[in-house]
Amino acid sequence: METLSNIENQKLTLTQKSEELGSYIGQTPLFPIQHLYTSRQVKIFAKLEWQQFGDSVKARPAYRIMRKAIKQGTLHEEVQLLDASSGNTGIAYAHIGAALGIPVTLCLPENASDERKRILKALNVNIEFTDRGGGTDVAQHVAREMYERAPDRYYYADQYSNPGNWQAHYNTTGPEILKQTNGKVTHFICGLGTTGTFTGTGRLLKEYKSDIRLIGLQPDLAMHGLEGWKHLETAHSPSIYDASLADDIRAVSTERAHQLITLTARKEGVLISPSSAANLAGALELAGELEEGVIVTVFPDDLSKYGEILTQLF
Ligand SMILES: Cc1ncc(COP(=O)(O)O)c(C=O)c1O
Repeated sequence: METLSNIENQKLTLTQKSEELGSYIGQTPLFPIQHLYTSRQVKIFAKLEWQQFGDSVKARPAYRIMRKAIKQGTLHEEVQLLDASSGNTGIAYAHIGAALGIPVTLCLPENASDERKRILKALNVNIEFTDRGGGTDVAQHVAREMYERAPDRYYYADQYSNPGNWQAHYNTTGPEILKQTNGKVTHFICGLGTTGTFTGTGRLLKEYKSDIRLIGLQPDLAMHGLEGWKHLETAHSPSIYDASLADDIRAVSTERAHQLITLTARKEGVLISPSSAANLAGALELAGELEEGVIVTVFPDDLSKYGEILTQLF
């Protein structure tokens, strides 16, 4: 249905249109996990991050990075937004770019799934394929080189170093969690990719409540199936990562995440992605160690973009 604001949208400037789009980003539900553990004194909640424009947790940083650059005049219809992403950030840039008429170019490892390539194509993204073995570290290198060769052609968003990444979570995810738990959150736990979610949300929560516990999660092995996560010992550390924030860093296996995808579907009624299930694995382990508490995590996306895992598990 066309709303009044949509109709008025036609007459807005790019800055105004980008601000208007902000009302469809964030404000995701805090979902209670109720059937996968038994303690009555410990609660686990997860933010359902696919329930926003842009389809995942990465809509928050993508939007913040783009909105700031639009305001400053460095991003507009005549330049291409350029970044490296194998997944959700790229898809979020693509949705927002299409809605605002801004072209998007992404450096994408060649072995990204066909589904992702199709989604990006549907949203009119220019894709530069990078070496399949190099992952996002190589894709990042290629994006930087492209920018350096033609700086007038691109706005280089650089999600791994752009402070807008963690600031998006500091300004939205963190305050939403405080509001939705009435300030009662005692533990925040989530996986580390670009580390924006953990750094921004954790920093805000720690400032509000210094005794809150922040637990970061990483894959147990360098080769893993937790899309979006980085193995800290072997991957390039993002410059936005603040190692002093975490009270603890724990590891989760891909097998445990897959097991929890099935259990969460059958017992909670939600179909979650591997990294969402890995966050839940961390939260459940923690719940087993506590007498009482309110544990909050995020579910970055659902299973809809992971057809091969859906086929493998069900
Ligand atoms: C599915 C998924 N899970 C987890 C993450 C990690 O979030 P962050 O980059 O904020 O550390 C990402 C990041 O792209 C992701 O796409």
